[in-house]
Amino acid sequence: MFKVQLSTVTASIGLAAFATLLLSPPASADTITIPTSSFDSTSSLEQYWNYNYPWGDTHNGAARMSSDHVSASGGVLTLTAVPASDSDSDIHYHSGTIYAKEQVNVDGTDAVGYQVEGEFIAPTTKGTWPAFWLNAASGWPPESDIAEWKGERTDQIWFNTFNTSSQVASKVVTWPDDGNYHAVKGVLRTIPGNSADLSIEYYLDGTLQATHTAAGYVGKALNLIIDLQMEGSSGSPGPTGTTTFKIRNVQMTKLTS
Ligand SMILES: *[C@@H]1O[C@H](CO)[C@@H](O)[C@H](O)[C@H]1NC(C)=O
Repeated sequence: MFKVQLSTVTASIGLAAFATLLLSPPASADTITIPTSSFDSTSSLEQYWNYNYPWGDTHNGAARMSSDHVSASGGVLTLTAVPASDSDSDIHYHSGTIYAKEQVNVDGTDAVGYQVEGEFIAPTTKGTWPAFWLNAASGWPPESDIAEWKGERTDQIWFNTFNTSSQVASKVVTWPDDGNYHAVKGVLRTIPGNSADLSIEYYLDGTLQATHTAAGYVGKALNLIIDLQMEGSSGSPGPTGTTTFKIRNVQMTKLTS
């Protein structure tokens, strides 16, 4: 196989050119750190993701998370929230959350960027608060919300970048709430001549929606979280029935150029 290719290549480009090709360093390659197959089955899910939040099973809302409300099959992740009848009065739902075992960390040397993307059928009614977001592994911020649907404003998707709790860039656009999957993507990159801040581009269905400058994000490890939180920032009361959030084709890519 190699001999055949070699003779073809030397014949077509000549020996000198072929020697150059052999001697030049390998082109830097982007690395897929989470493949789109991670939702093919429970075992592939558990290879790439952990259940719940990095800090536990609740976060700023009325849902308590557990693996019982997470399923992965045929390339689709389904998070399901159901009303709870707990004695804990702050918990009104049981729901599901996962976070990636691979973290995002744009350090400017090993990685000059990261791309995080996926396709979603997201609930947007009052009291439903699904999100696809990056959160500081240590301290807070950074936080970059690559997609946040807050049911207090239905049919809207939010792209947010936090410098501090009060200094936040937000872009809110209409979510095509048509029952079909729609794609979101965040691209974090270093900024030439700036060793502290990152640029973050947010896309909906392949169209750039916003570019934010994220203060001090270089070298900060981030957890990628997919959650179906309820109530909290999305208003209350939430739905009385079952809520589902469907996700597919999630991919995390480390960019080296
Ligand atoms: C966040 O900080 C960066 C870097 O200083 C700045 O360019 C950007 O405008 C800030 N964002 C907001 C919302 O103020």
